[in-house]
Amino acid sequence: MSFCIAIDGPAAAGKGTISKAVAAHFDFAHLDTGLLYRAVGAKTFEGFSPIEAAMALTADDLERDDLRSGDAGQAASRVAAIPEVRAALVDFQQAFARREGGAVLDGRDIGTVICPDAEVKLYVTASDEVRAERRQKELAGKGETVSVEEVLADLRERDERDAARATAPLKPAEDATVIDTTEMTIDEAVAKVIALIEARR
Ligand code: C5P
Repeated sequence: MSFCIAIDGPAAAGKGTISKAVAAHFDFAHLDTGLLYRAVGAKTFEGFSPIEAAMALTADDLERDDLRSGDAGQAASRVAAIPEVRAALVDFQQAFARREGGAVLDGRDIGTVICPDAEVKLYVTASDEVRAERRQKELAGKGETVSVEEVLADLRERDERDAARATAPLKPAEDATVIDTTEMTIDEAVAKVIALIEARR
């Protein structure tokens, strides 16, 4: 039986951490769809065109060490505005969403475009400042030293581009439950999401 949990929201809102914890709790597979766009963006650094890179994407491309960098995030959000790039990645994501045993997908357009009939749709958000602080700590933990102000500017630029694009813009699905994690610890956010999913199973 398939069961799709769609988790969308702006950058660094806690989607990734929540998705991993939820997938582990229900023993579902998890796909971080941002990684697909980051991998396409990173391939453009090597001279591939975005569309070529998206059509030729392999599992190995998702293993690159540099995908979490700020540069890969910016490149991801640029290539993600190209309709042909998005189209090239749809089948893989939809097959993942409908696999046996259940799936959690996190991204920007899962509840709106990839899995509009998802059993559970969440839109996870938090204030810009809190998101920037969290991302800055995460990057610092990986040895990338950037100020909170720089991270904030980077997140806002990406969010604005993601929300303004014509194809699959960042926005909550009409039937999504919005979860604001600004005042929550990660454990509280995870507990809330798990309770909400339990209620729908
Ligand atoms: O989630 P993450 O920050 O890794 O995503 C990187 C970029 O990939 C986003 O800024 C967005 O432009 C793009 N993306 C998207 N649709 C998704 C997931 C990510 O457009 N489903």
